[in-house]
Amino acid sequence: MREQSHVPVEQLTEKEAASELARLAKEIAHHDRLYYQKDAPQISDAAYDALRQRNQAIERRFPELIREDSPSRRVGAAPAQGFAKVNHLRPMLSLGNAFSTEDVAEFVASVRRFLKLPADTSVALTAEPKIDGLSANLRYEDGVFVQGATRGDGAVGEDITANLRTIPDVPHRLRGKDVPELIEMRGEVYLPRSLFAKLNAEREKAGEPIFANPRNAAAGSVRQLDPAITRSRPLRFFAYAWGEVRGRLPDTHWETVQRFAHWGFKTNPLAKLCRDEGEALKLYARMAEQRAQLDYDIDGVVYKVNRLDWQERLGFVSRAPRWAVAHKFPAEQAITRLEDIGVSVGRTGALTPYAILTAVTVGGVVVSRATLHNEDEVARKDFRAGDTVVIQRAGDVIPQLVRVIPEKRPKGAKPFVMPDKCPVCGSLAVREEGQAVRRCTGGLTCPTQAVERLIHFCSRGALDIEGMGEETVQEFHEKGFLAGPVDIFRLHRRRHEIVRDEKKDTGLRGWGELRFGNLVRAIEARRRVALPRFILALGIPQVGEATARLLARNYGSLEAWRAAMERAAKGDEEAVAELDNIEGVGPSMVTDIVGFFAERHNLKVLDELAKEIEVEEFAQAAVSGSPVAGKTVVFTGTLETMGRAEAKARAEQLGAKVAGSVSKKTDYVVIGADAGSKATKARALGVATLTEEEWLKLVGG
Ligand code: IVH
Repeated sequence: MREQSHVPVEQLTEKEAASELARLAKEIAHHDRLYYQKDAPQISDAAYDALRQRNQAIERRFPELIREDSPSRRVGAAPAQGFAKVNHLRPMLSLGNAFSTEDVAEFVASVRRFLKLPADTSVALTAEPKIDGLSANLRYEDGVFVQGATRGDGAVGEDITANLRTIPDVPHRLRGKDVPELIEMRGEVYLPRSLFAKLNAEREKAGEPIFANPRNAAAGSVRQLDPAITRSRPLRFFAYAWGEVRGRLPDTHWETVQRFAHWGFKTNPLAKLCRDEGEALKLYARMAEQRAQLDYDIDGVVYKVNRLDWQERLGFVSRAPRWAVAHKFPAEQAITRLEDIGVSVGRTGALTPYAILTAVTVGGVVVSRATLHNEDEVARKDFRAGDTVVIQRAGDVIPQLVRVIPEKRPKGAKPFVMPDKCPVCGSLAVREEGQAVRRCTGGLTCPTQAVERLIHFCSRGALDIEGMGEETVQEFHEKGFLAGPVDIFRLHRRRHEIVRDEKKDTGLRGWGELRFGNLVRAIEARRRVALPRFILALGIPQVGEATARLLARNYGSLEAWRAAMERAAKGDEEAVAELDNIEGVGPSMVTDIVGFFAERHNLKVLDELAKEIEVEEFAQAAVSGSPVAGKTVVFTGTLETMGRAEAKARAEQLGAKVAGSVSKKTDYVVIGADAGSKATKARALGVATLTEEEWLKLVGG
């Protein structure tokens, strides 16, 4: 049979149409799952729509072939489109996880260290269930509910005001006199288990597909375009946090949440104020027991530092607050069959073995694949095709294989052998001494590597090009429109080859003027890009968002960074030392970053990109007026009023770069008690030294 996905609907034979409908049903269901259950779509809305449209067109031509499980029979499964975007006034963050008592102890210890609290000061914590629903941001102005949004990517969500209004737990107007002028209320939308069962029973009776779990049902319900549908789903809401506030709140988290209840919100009845972590851990044990009896799913207990002045000082690390942690319940496990072991190729050419499993529900989702990390891991745990295995999934953690059940091993099951050729391009796959991974040596000639790098380049945290999702990149790469990143910015020149012309039978299916125009506009909007995004987009191994920011902050501009890295790649020790000296950049990262600049083809990519796009200098705008913006600071010795991490975080907030050792480039060395060689070196180099008190005075306390 022909490659059907490209055959025009009107040319399909009946047999081809049937198999195409089967493929589309599966594929659309897959993307629905990513969208609804994981909130992590892998294709653009446009690409998704194209799939649905094709499905519909085939069904119109062959109505007798419409399947039981056809996407067109599913109500409310269409992705939420047409929701306006909402900028949260303060970002909506996620939480760090703790999996053991030790992790919780370490959390409290890190709070103490950061705040420099004596060991005997107790840290009061609130403890409350972690609800397994989806978070929402509700904006109240003068006590009136004016806008509600999903979390989205944390910075920008979708406007679901009309849907949230249908939830009885969401007050339209707040009661009481201490209502702030403006507040972003944060909490969890969820579907009670009892009502979930009822909803599914009704759906089954009506011949509609049932929801996999309450979270999934809640997520699907809240993103309905028609609020009447949302209203018919019995959703609830617990308030547990807040974002921007204009007005006064009490001094503690506990009192603030009490106040929420006075205003008319539902707050979780199991929440408790605990004097210390010991009490919090007792509550955790109790909740783990109660869990099965609750009418809503919970996947752990959230602890929050009670004092708000401490929360303020603790602040955030990348996306999670330092003042809160989620203590997760142990992972749910399941037993299934390991049908086979496959091997995939990643952005950096790493070959990763993965498990192909007989589908099984665990932790509320259907799992049929799981990563096996690397060949040593497979050998160590001795997973073989045909084995019966224990798998687990803890909350938002990806599924993993725990162990084999040896009694169930079929006779003749063979140990797994990692291929020494890339399964995609056939190039040699080699494993360097001391490395866990085997890599394809094909570089950019390996289509998967090229595609994965392009996908990364366009992804949300990087260039963030809307409409340039996985599928589009894949298609354009396959058809020869995209070889490397620079081609993205030259795509507009290929309009005639891409835009579909039915009469001439040229162009790509699904690419009308409108869609192509939108894509080109999205690309044009990214010809100016912030430095951290650009650095991230390069896809240097180990350089994630946090490191990209550090590099941007330290070097200030692409030109300065590149010049320094090229010097480092040529062996300039000072340049290597400067990189190594950035707090948060370790030696193996240095190797990867410098290694990137040692490759001629990477420099060529940078040269080409420079002709197409403008990379902004790193904006210190938020801290203009700060006396230490752009200055390099080293802290040494023991500080009196704050921990080292707090000192560093505050200096960085003010736009300073914090380094680990003193050099000619250091602007200030802040000297605490018992400072050693760094203080001496500073004096020898004539670098300004400050006492802690002088530093605090300089930065305004
Ligand atoms: S506090 C800055 N409390 O967990 C901290 N989150 O993993 C804000 N969640 O996105 C979150 N129950 O959707 C908090 N009692 C609770 C929670 C809770 C569930 C969710 C929330 C958040 C996610 C973080």
